[in-house]
Amino acid sequence: MSERTERSEGREAMPGRHGMTTIDPGLTAEEEALLPSDEDVRHYAEHGWYLSKKLLTDDEVDELVAATDSYYAGERDRRLPVRPPKLAYWEPARGDVQRHNDYVHHEHDGIARILRKPLIGAVAARLARAVEIRIFQSTLIWKPPIAGEPSNIVPWHFDKHYWASSSSENMLTAFIPFHDCGEEMGTITMVDGSHRWREIGADDTVVRHFADRDRDQLEAMLAENAAYNGATIRKIPMVIPKGHMSFHHCRTYHGSGANVSGRPRRAISLHLQDGDNAWREYPLSDGTLAAYNHDVLVRRTHEGRPDYADPDYCPVIWRDRAQQGG
Ligand SMILES: [Fe+2]
Repeated sequence: MSERTERSEGREAMPGRHGMTTIDPGLTAEEEALLPSDEDVRHYAEHGWYLSKKLLTDDEVDELVAATDSYYAGERDRRLPVRPPKLAYWEPARGDVQRHNDYVHHEHDGIARILRKPLIGAVAARLARAVEIRIFQSTLIWKPPIAGEPSNIVPWHFDKHYWASSSSENMLTAFIPFHDCGEEMGTITMVDGSHRWREIGADDTVVRHFADRDRDQLEAMLAENAAYNGATIRKIPMVIPKGHMSFHHCRTYHGSGANVSGRPRRAISLHLQDGDNAWREYPLSDGTLAAYNHDVLVRRTHEGRPDYADPDYCPVIWRDRAQQGG
């Protein structure tokens, strides 16, 4: 039995500025059995995606549903002090379009409690071969059950395009639906192995969010990149049972289609960074520097740079004590 199988051992308190104390209890033996195997980690390295085992209990998923219901009803434990320039922040006045709300792990403690589950971080650490995993962003998503709703279609893109100011090439995202999620709901769909493609004509307009871009242009960009790499586009819809989640690498092309299920598709995209990630200076062709919404929110490092390890916005959810020898 490893040192991390008993919750009573080696507890580590990590108090945050908001008075929330996070305990990193390690994993139970049952949870260790839910980690990706060596073969799963090899699969992720080759294909750029991984469908997890059941990482959340039914009770935890039900808690997420209740917590996000209260979020949509207006409940917040705190609010962002300023509104960053590219913030996704659906409000009821926008109507029945696809809803995206960033920073839910910061604004709502009931949501954060589930998203910070150490097991999620431990799975991400295995996949990314990282010692530490921090939250980078969390986006609450609601795809209304309206077959022809154009905002429900998420065109092909990869997340690193929005994260040019991050130094890491190993960031990854967990897509966490609150129910069984299949093709009829417009589940997330991966372009198999595309994280290993070299990018043709890397045009830094791609740093703009997909919502601001022409959809045909993005479809054409995918086809051009596949051809450049001599690759066939293989689209894999993630069929995700309740409590399971799909992980994808930050360079894996993905998108999603219409929701024709008759039920809302509810989920959180939990974007994760490995411990080494930090802000970097990344000049764009127009002379400005790549930026992320964090840059107007997080504390500064001693060099005056945005600190992507600020525990108020980017809390640690997993630190492998075995690898640290601690
Ligand atoms: Fe994405």
